[in-house]
Amino acid sequence: PSLEKDFLPLYYGWFLSKKSSENLRKTGQAFLDELGSLKVFKKESKYFLPAEDPKVKLDLSGYFAKRPPSVLHCTTKFTDFGKALGADEYAQQEVVKASYGKAFNLTISALFLTTKTAGARVELSEQELLLWPGDVDKILPTDNLPKGSRAHITLGCASGIEPVQTGIDLLEFVKLEKAGTKGDEIEEIGGGKLQYFGNGMWMLLLSKKIEVKAIFSGYYG
Ligand code: A2P
Repeated sequence: PSLEKDFLPLYYGWFLSKKSSENLRKTGQAFLDELGSLKVFKKESKYFLPAEDPKVKLDLSGYFAKRPPSVLHCTTKFTDFGKALGADEYAQQEVVKASYGKAFNLTISALFLTTKTAGARVELSEQELLLWPGDVDKILPTDNLPKGSRAHITLGCASGIEPVQTGIDLLEFVKLEKAGTKGDEIEEIGGGKLQYFGNGMWMLLLSKKIEVKAIFSGYYG
């Protein structure tokens, strides 16, 4: 008999390989640089500028200065060392145990940014969806969005914003899409079609989806 109890991580997720992580950071950076220089964006840049000094030049990479410290990741379940609701149930699933330490290919279909966060939207495969928790794809208890809607990789946060916000922001986009608010198709830029949803919400649908290599694992902090 063991006195030990399983010690759960802060969160489970897919951790990108160093190379995939570096490439995605660069792609995200290039998107911010390009977006920041576009006329359509500048016209709407008031959302990103301090009200008292709206004339200051906007530097989006400075704006999203809080970046993930190590390799980029896509959180599946935030278990909070076992304290989060549903943590044990998630950790005890056979598929979670069997997948721990295994390699996956994640597909990134879009890059997005809001006044709070910048992120990459992840399109999960059937197999990857088996690792996705059942309770995270909603902002309001009444939301009914497709499984995996929240799947994302945080690229940066604005000052004072915690990374948990990126998933919430992505869910806002998905809710707008679902409501039929497709987002004005602004123009084709480097990587694909740029959409504007208003209120400083931008999404780039990648014409060529990005594949990244990642290991499913837990992060203990
Ligand atoms: P994300 O996965 O969107 O980047 P922190 O450092 O704040 O403790 O967060 C660690 C990781 O867990 C981050 O990647 C963060 O967001 C995610 N995270 C933090 N809190 C939550 C939460 N309540 N629900 C889901 N994910 C969370």
